[in-house]
Amino acid sequence: MFIKEFKTTISQEPIIIGPDSNRDNIIFAIESSCDETAAAIVKNGREVLSNTVASQIKTHIEFGGVVPEVAAREHLEAINVVIAQTFEQAGLKGEDITAFAATVGPGLVGSLLVGMNAGKALALSYDKPFIGVNHLNAHVCANYLNSDLEPPFAALLISGGHTQIIRVKNYTEQDIIGETIDDAIGEAYDKVARLIGLPYPGGVNLDKLAQTGNPFAFKLPEAKLTNEYDFSFSGLKTASLQLIQKLKKDNLELPKADIAASFQENVTSTLFKKTKKAADSIGAKTIVLAGGVAANSEIRKKFFELRNFGYKIYAPEMKYCTDNAAMIASSAYFLSNTMDSLDVEVFSRM
Ligand code: KG4
Ligand code: ZN
Repeated sequence: MFIKEFKTTISQEPIIIGPDSNRDNIIFAIESSCDETAAAIVKNGREVLSNTVASQIKTHIEFGGVVPEVAAREHLEAINVVIAQTFEQAGLKGEDITAFAATVGPGLVGSLLVGMNAGKALALSYDKPFIGVNHLNAHVCANYLNSDLEPPFAALLISGGHTQIIRVKNYTEQDIIGETIDDAIGEAYDKVARLIGLPYPGGVNLDKLAQTGNPFAFKLPEAKLTNEYDFSFSGLKTASLQLIQKLKKDNLELPKADIAASFQENVTSTLFKKTKKAADSIGAKTIVLAGGVAANSEIRKKFFELRNFGYKIYAPEMKYCTDNAAMIASSAYFLSNTMDSLDVEVFSRM
């Protein structure tokens, strides 16, 4: 097994972190890659001792989306309170923490800087290691929280920025089987939501509306791709736009719920078909959903039905699907591809 040895920031004392450690690992993590300022304390990668999220939804609602400069400023205002609340909720102090972690990318650079620098400052003040975490890997690790999940498994990572089918071989090795060649699924949700006039954040609002509509009211196209495990959502987005324009031109009242339901039916069946086939092709009987879109009611329902056919299906609790810091702490504990030094910098893209 891969041993993860970390150095404390000042005394440089070596510390083993992860499943091979011979003592409890209490990791304090910060997440600030987009529009949530979050902190959490997690014991041994799975047990959430405290979890705090300050959402910026109210601020961004008036702009219809996230404005990067505004997001960074809001993180700066919220971060100290969020950190204090997280310690208080767990009844712990800085001295009790084994290591401090923070998301270092991908995400909005200005926002990432706030969380990462707060994490580094805490590590320095308490003389503990600092662990930089990749946000995408962390979404998958959200499935380890309060659960018994162990690799190997197939994961479907569906978020605002990514859509990937991943083969997770063990805690340290994984490869991408398929991914989007254009828009991410969450992006498609948010754009179609905007087209039918739903407020930000689009995904969850479209999900709610879709539950009242007819999923077979409109037939929307499905992309044909060279790699059958890849995704493309830009054609679907254009088809949705054309459908809405046509209905408007004909002076018909927009059947918003039916459009939402038809869109949701389309993406759900594409995600399901491809992921199941990919999982079967690698002999994986465990399928794991991850990322903000894994909070979607229809997607969860469709995948959970596979439990009746001998599959083990995992999805994080709703609060751990969208951005949170507990998943960052879990990732710092389980994964070896972290960035472990005070010199690590933030990055915006993979
Ligand atoms: O993982 P996440 O919080 O942030 C990223 O790392 O991107 O994902 C955010 C995305 C947004 O596009 C949001 O609209 C979508 O997840 N989302 C949903 C639902 N809840 C959040 N999409 C569909 N249905 C939902 N219930
Ligand atoms: Zn995310």
